[in-house]
Amino acid sequence: MHPDTEDIVVAPDERLNTECASIAEITPEIRELAERMLEDMYATEGCGLAAPQVGELVQMVVIDVDYTDKKRNPYVLINPEIITADGEEREFPEGCLSFPGITVRISRPSHVVVHALNLDGELMRYEAENNLMAVCLQHEIDHLHGVTMLDHLRPLKRAAKMREFQDALAAGAKPGDTDVE
Ligand code: NI
Repeated sequence: MHPDTEDIVVAPDERLNTECASIAEITPEIRELAERMLEDMYATEGCGLAAPQVGELVQMVVIDVDYTDKKRNPYVLINPEIITADGEEREFPEGCLSFPGITVRISRPSHVVVHALNLDGELMRYEAENNLMAVCLQHEIDHLHGVTMLDHLRPLKRAAKMREFQDALAAGAKPGDTDVE
């Protein structure tokens, strides 16, 4: 397992349930944080990572939903805001680096529009529909508001998934490990 997995905050941890502060200025520290998050995301083969998942309670997420060994297409979203979330709800199996070893089917709106700053301070618009990007945007932005994927489940299902997660942890699951449902 790659040492970068040790950088990932694994649940339960109160940092995963905390509202993150918006970023007032894009400082060298913020750029470094973006680099670190991208490294961690690629090392753990995730498609997205939010700052609280590396213990930094600020509003930044990194996403790359279609990288290969040869090609990377990273997005860094600073202070992202969901402008629109609509369309038919779609269920999709989600994993999370902070919940190693489990996959959770979650229903979310299929169409989303997000505004965010990039590392140059430019306002960017992201629109996604019926794809991994639409799911990933919502999942990662949730993290900035202290919401994890388990928070979308009804109590019984949530409790069952929490037990499954604890079993996976006890069996040695590490960030980046997912089950096959
Ligand atoms: Ni996550």
